[in-house]
Amino acid sequence: MTDLVFIGPPGAGKGTQAQRLCARLGVPQVSTGDMLRAARKMGTELGRAADDYMARGALVPDDVVIGLVHERLALPDAATGFVLDGFPRTVPQAKSLDRLLGRISRKIEHVVLLEVPDALIVERITGRRVGETTGRIYHIKYDPPPFPDRGEGGERLLTRADDTDEVVRSRLAAYSAQTAPLVAYYTNHGLLRRVDGVGAVDDVTMALFRSIGIT
Ligand code: AP5
Repeated sequence: MTDLVFIGPPGAGKGTQAQRLCARLGVPQVSTGDMLRAARKMGTELGRAADDYMARGALVPDDVVIGLVHERLALPDAATGFVLDGFPRTVPQAKSLDRLLGRISRKIEHVVLLEVPDALIVERITGRRVGETTGRIYHIKYDPPPFPDRGEGGERLLTRADDTDEVVRSRLAAYSAQTAPLVAYYTNHGLLRRVDGVGAVDDVTMALFRSIGIT
C-alpha cells in the first residue's frame, strides 16, 4: 500500500513530481485542483460552488473539498494506493483524511513537502502550460514542450486562468495562512519528508525518490 501526500506552495512542482511518482508506482494521482477545474469546466454544482474561490486564489471551503476526496478515494483504482496532490491543505482537511483512512485500516505513509522560495514561484507559474488532453505539465523555459504551442502528440496547450501575477499572490497568502500549519502537523506525526524543489526537474525527482526510499 502506498498512500502519499504532496504539500508545498503553488507552483512548487507538486503536479510535475506527482505525475512522475504515479507513473513509477502505478497508483493514481488525486489532484483536487484538477478535479475542481474539471467541475468548473463542466459547470456542475460543485464547479459553481468552487468558482469564485478559485478565481480569487482563495481556498474552496473544507466541506466541499473533503466530500470530493472521500468519494474519489473510494474508487477501485485507489485501493492499492494513491498520491494526493493539493489535499489536504488545511488542518481540518488533514484530520478528516486521517479519520477516513483509519476507518479502512490505512494510513498515510509519507508526506512530501516540496520547498521552493517565493521568489521563484511567479516565474514558474506564469510560464506553465498544460496539455489539454493528457494534463502533462510543461514550462516554457524549464521544461519546454516539443512545439511552441503544442505538446507531445500535438495536443493543444492551455494556460490556467488562475496563473496570473495577482492571483498567484493571493494563492501564496492562502498557503502561508492555511496550509503552512500542516508542516507542524505532519512533523508531529513523524511523516514529513522535506525535498528541495529548486533545481532541474530530474534532480528534484531523484531527491524525491530518495526521500521516500525508492532507489
Ligand atoms: P491547485 O491546482 O492545487 O494549485 P496549487 O497548489 O496552487 O499548485 P499548482 O498546481 O499551481 O502548482 P504545482 O505545485 O502543482 O506545480 P507544477 O508541477 O504545476 O489548486 C488550485 C486552486 O484550487 C486553489 O487555489 C484552490 O482555490 C483550489 N483548491 C485545490 N485544492 C484545494 C483544497 N484541498 N482545499 C481548498 N481549495 C483547493 O509546476 C509549476 C510550473 O513549474 C510548471 O510550469 C512546471 O513545468 C514548472 N516546474 C516544476 N518543477 C520545476 C523545477 N524543478 N524547475 C523549474 N520549473 C519547474
